[in-house]
This record gives sequence, structure tokens and C-alpha cells, in this order.
Amino acid sequence: MNHEKTKSGNWNKNAKWLRVPGPVLKHDSDSVQPAPFFRKTFSLDKKPSVAEILICGLGYYELYINGRKVGDHVLDPVVTHYDKRVSYVTYEIIDYLLQGTNVIGVILGNGWYNCHTHDVWHFEEAIWRDFPKFLLQMSINGKNFLNSDTDWKVTTGPIVFDGLRNGETYDAKLELNGWQDADYDVSSWMNAIIAPSPGGTIEKQTMPPCKVMDTIPSTNDWGIANRRVYDIGQNITGWARITVEGETGAELKIRYGERLDSEGKVDQEHIGKFIYSGKCQTDHYILNGKGLEQWEPRFTYHGFQYVQIEINGNAAIKKVEGRVVHTSFDKIGSFECSNKIINKLQQCTLWSYLGNFTGIPTDCPHREKNGWTGDAHLAAETGLFNYDASSSYAQWIDSVVDAQRPSGQLPVIVPTSNWGYNRNGGPAWDSALLLIPWYVYLYTGDDSLIRKHYDAIKRYVDYCSTMADGFIVDFSLGDWAHVEKKRIVATSLTSTAYYYTNVVLLAKFAKMTDHKKDRKDYTELAAEIKKALNQRFYKGEGIYAKGEQTAMACALYHELVDDTEKASVVNALASAVKDNDCKPDFGILGAKYVPRVLADNGYPDLAYKIITQPEFPGWVNWLNQDATTLWESWSGESSLNHIMFGDISAWFYQYLGGIKPDPDHPGFAHFFIRPHRAEGLDWVKAEHRCPNGKIISSWRYENKAFMLDVEIPQGCSATVILPRGQTHDIDAGKHLFVDN
Ligand code: BGC
Repeated sequence: MNHEKTKSGNWNKNAKWLRVPGPVLKHDSDSVQPAPFFRKTFSLDKKPSVAEILICGLGYYELYINGRKVGDHVLDPVVTHYDKRVSYVTYEIIDYLLQGTNVIGVILGNGWYNCHTHDVWHFEEAIWRDFPKFLLQMSINGKNFLNSDTDWKVTTGPIVFDGLRNGETYDAKLELNGWQDADYDVSSWMNAIIAPSPGGTIEKQTMPPCKVMDTIPSTNDWGIANRRVYDIGQNITGWARITVEGETGAELKIRYGERLDSEGKVDQEHIGKFIYSGKCQTDHYILNGKGLEQWEPRFTYHGFQYVQIEINGNAAIKKVEGRVVHTSFDKIGSFECSNKIINKLQQCTLWSYLGNFTGIPTDCPHREKNGWTGDAHLAAETGLFNYDASSSYAQWIDSVVDAQRPSGQLPVIVPTSNWGYNRNGGPAWDSALLLIPWYVYLYTGDDSLIRKHYDAIKRYVDYCSTMADGFIVDFSLGDWAHVEKKRIVATSLTSTAYYYTNVVLLAKFAKMTDHKKDRKDYTELAAEIKKALNQRFYKGEGIYAKGEQTAMACALYHELVDDTEKASVVNALASAVKDNDCKPDFGILGAKYVPRVLADNGYPDLAYKIITQPEFPGWVNWLNQDATTLWESWSGESSLNHIMFGDISAWFYQYLGGIKPDPDHPGFAHFFIRPHRAEGLDWVKAEHRCPNGKIISSWRYENKAFMLDVEIPQGCSATVILPRGQTHDIDAGKHLFVDN
């Protein structure tokens, strides 16, 4: 291989990385150029029977053949640590080809590759950063036929600016009309030049691409003629598609946001504060004035419910639509029940989950778009119940490992420019490296992530041990986004608990991969950590730390409580919850622990109350303020589209539907169905498509009798535990249980 090692080894050496001629990149925000348009013609005697293109276009590409966009991917390829690995995408192109002269075109955007915006996380200084470039090869009937080489012509056109974090500016007056016609005059175009490769291994993109998954018309609008705000009615991730008519040169300034100010205008204050150069979430469109024009951006995305359009010049907006963009997962789960509020929460969670998966799991789609590791693992079970997300997690975990330092240390966001190693993070966030491979294994039975990343995982755990003092680790973030910062549980408790779980998991992984010594060493280490944690934090009579909800729930969730003490710790937790009027007194860690351990230990009704109670703080309190997504904080003062409180949907499946994976028989080869009743809940229907087929757990009351219908796929078995404790071991098929 001449330039890169590839996984499939099918790149040929005549394919070159190409860019537009020009100066080399400086790491400042001036290093932005209009988006390049590349083109090449070729001729075919007849339509071939097999034709394929491989393309890697950085930051983002659009591929065209004979004027038609190839495929329906957007924001492709997904972001990676480009200096470590880049993704290429394969397309079958027979349907696009013609006998005679054909034209192939490529447009490139900056994306994460040339993230020029100055921001808090210094992506403008990312080691991989360069001007957009692409690599392409086409094969016909199995033979290499055409490559990206210096015969390609290039120019710039209407996309005069694009910044992932800023927005896109499109000057329709500069459109290259007919640029994909065979006889288009390219005499003013330049020849593309060879560019250095991004440096990473070229690997086939194995996860589903981002796509426009839905189009939502605006439901309402207000304002004055040349400054109107359009309401999409749902907080979404994506962009707006605008239909407009007006005079040449009239300009639309399109600002996106999820809040309004007191005058009903889009308020970007809370989402723009980390962007130091350029505008936040703002597109511009300049009309060509040739009649009805429809436009949407290509190389940026936004998080928003409202679109504010300011018109400079003479133009009339005809239509504003929200284009919903995210990774195009297959949906493999559904949850519904008789309580409309729970159903609404489920929907909000799915909106936030999807809106925070644009190739990578993110924290929010507007302010940061960052792959915060803690947010990712907290939402992973929700993801895996509802969507076929495992290949996407696999690719992101590759990036986590790519970002790992030789010491084992991890950054808190992935990808990262280099930011977030010696700050933030800590075990409660970094555990994504272990927990996500573990969840993928639990839900799909696929242990390849564990095997592939065993060394990286071990390096990370050993790194944590270097941070421990007497087996206690006390670094970085804890029960983040707590109701009241001063009541947050000691980070040394939550961090050490995650450290413990990581060591336990590593010992398990060692067993699975036959690392005998590691298994023994880490099992012993786990025992030491457990001892130290209990010595330090267990105060007796069921109380951990200062008796906070998160403290007891953390110890129970991470299985740190001695058997003899378990009942009193459960009681102490239940009392802490009751004493607080069944309201959350926790942040994002407690939001995962508390409902789970309450339901697991005989208090499903308390868990249900804490989830459904309408007052501040709480999930339903958000709904009562018209939330359509989950928020970043209980108070709602910051982002309105975060997924880190989103384990709630997994809770619905696992505790109301009762479907729980069995760690000893991953991939639902054997699993549990243990539905919990709750006051006022009349029926529940949970479905999940596991690797062997569809699981159904559906219950209702008939004449006061609890009736449970279950469906177990072929090749699977389950243990059903009815609300009154009766247990049944069952095999594949449909079964009905009655619990009087
Ligand atoms: C992000 C979070 C993240 C947190 C941790 C925030 O800015 O949006 O989701 O986990 O920081 O510090």
C-alpha cells in the first residue's frame, strides 16, 4: 500500500488525496475557503453491470453523478480522530451511469476536519486540521476504472462559508449552473492538487450514516414582515429547509434556537457562549431571484425548535420546514403504557437520544456537539433497547481508544482536539470505555469490543490505580447537574464506585479472554477497593456518606454493599426518598441509580413516584413546561436537549416491561421478564428485537387479575417473575401468565 494501510486493502495507489490549490492552512479562523466543487468526465461504451465507488471526503462530502446526488447520506463520513483513522463509504452506482459521457462531481465541506471556529475546546487547533480533501476510486465490472487524480477540475461556487459550529452561507447568485453537464465549460476551473493524507488508517464506515429522517413543517410563526420566527413545534437536530421568492441579492439571515426572548425572538445566549468566532447556529441565503427558490444547508447542523429569518431586501418566505437529522438507526424497540405522561417521557427521551447521535453520541446538538463520555454511557442502555446502535458504539469506542494516552488516561470528550485530559472526566465519565462494550455484549452477545479493546481497557484501569490513594479515587466529575450543587455527593464516592465497577468488569473480561493472572489480580483489587470504600463512606445503619439519595443508591447500584447491610441501606434510601416527598435529590448519576435500585429492591412504587411526580425537580416537571426533549438540568436554565438524564427509557423497558438481560447469557439468549406494577398503571407493552427475534412483554388487568403475555424468540429462554414472586422458566413461543 503506498499511502495508507486499509482494513480491506482495496484502495489502489493511483487514487490521490485531492484539494483545491491554494495556501497551506494556518490554525486560525481565517483559514476558511468557500466549499470546493470537483468534477471529472469519463465515457462508457455501454452501461456496465457492476460499478462501485469508494469515497472518503473530509470533513464532509457530497458525491454526484450526472447531476444526481449519490445516496442519501448527510454529514458523511462520521467524525473520527482523522489522524488515527478515517472512514470511507462505498456506493453501488450502476443506476447513476449513462452510456456515453458521464460527469462525476464532489463537493466538500469543513465539518469536524477543518473546524475553524474558535471555541472552548480548541477544535481549531486539532492536530488533524487541514483544508477539505477527498480520496475516491471507481471500479467497473470489478476493475479499477477511475481515481481521484490531478486530472480532476476544481472551482468554488455558491457555498461561500461553512462551519460546523457556525452555520453555512449560500450565495445562489454564484451557482454553477449546469456544472454537471457533459459539455459544461471548465476552462476557468483549476486542476486539483495532491494533498497530504489525513494520516489515519482508512477503514470502511460500518455504522449507519446520518440521514434526513423526517421533515416537519413549521406550525406557527410570528414577528414582523422582515423578521419572523417559525416554530417547528419540536426541539430537533438538523436544519431548516426554506422556500422563498424574491429579488436577486436579497439576503436571509437564518438563526436557530430553542428559546425565545421576552419579545418572541430567538435567544441564543445559552447555546452560543462557548463559540468565540463567527456566529452561532446561523445560516445565510442570498437569493438568485429566478423564481421560487428552495434551500437547505449541507455541511452544518443545528439544535433548535425555532427558526428566525431576517430578510434584507425584497423577499417573501413561502415555507419553512424542519429537517430532522441523525444517525439512521434501525428501530428495534417500542414501549407504551396506559400512562400518557410516561409515553410522553419516552418520546422526549427518543428525541434527545436521536438528536444526540450524529455519527457520535453527543451531549447536545447546539452548544457543544461534543462526545462527552459520561453522557454516552448513561444513555447507552436506552439506545440499545430502542435502536440497533451497536455498530455506531463500536465505531465511537474506536475513537475513544484512539484518544487514549499511552498512560491510559482518557479525555472527557471524544473526539477531542487535545482538550479535556487533565480536567473534568474521571471514572464516572471515562467508564464509557468499559461500560459501552459491556452493554453491547449484554444486549447483543457480541464480545468483539471487549476482545479488541482489552489492552486499552486494562491500561485505563491501571491509570486509575495510579490516581488512587488507599484505593480511593477522587478526581473529576460526580453527580453532575444535581438539583443543588452544595448537596452533591462526594466525588470520591461516585468516582471510586465507578473505579470498582471497572475493575470488576476488567476481571470479567479477563476471564472471557483467558487472561488468568489479570483475572486473579483484578478480582483481588476489586475486593480491596470495596473494603476501602466501605471503610471510608459507610456510616452504619444503612447510611453512606451524608445519607444522600445518590450515596446509598450508588453503593447499591455498584454492588458495594455487604449482604448483611443491604436491607438497612435499602431502607435508608427509601426513607431518604420519602423524606424528600419522592422528589429527586440527585443529578445524572443518581438519575440512573435511584429508580433502578429502588425497583430492584422492593420499592418499584417509589421509583415510579419519583419519575412521575410533577413538581420541581423532576422529569414530569419538564413536560409541564412543554419540554419536547430532555433537559440538561432540572431547572432548565441551560440546554433543553441533553440525553444524560435519559436512562429513563431503559428503566421503562426493564422495570415496567420487566425485560432484563442476563449477564450469564448475553444477547438475550436467556433473560428475565419481571414486570413491576405501579399505582394507576393499567397496562404496559414493551417490545425489543434481540439478535434472535422479537421479545414481547405485555401486561394488563382483566377483572382485577394481572395478565401477562410474553413472546420469546426461537433459540432463547427466559425466567418470568410475576409481581407476587412466582417464577416460571420458559422457552421460545407465546405464553400467558395470570397473577391473581
Ligand atoms: C456537557 C455535559 C457534560 C458536562 C460535564 C457539559 O458542558 O454539556 O453534558 O457531561 O459538561 O462537565
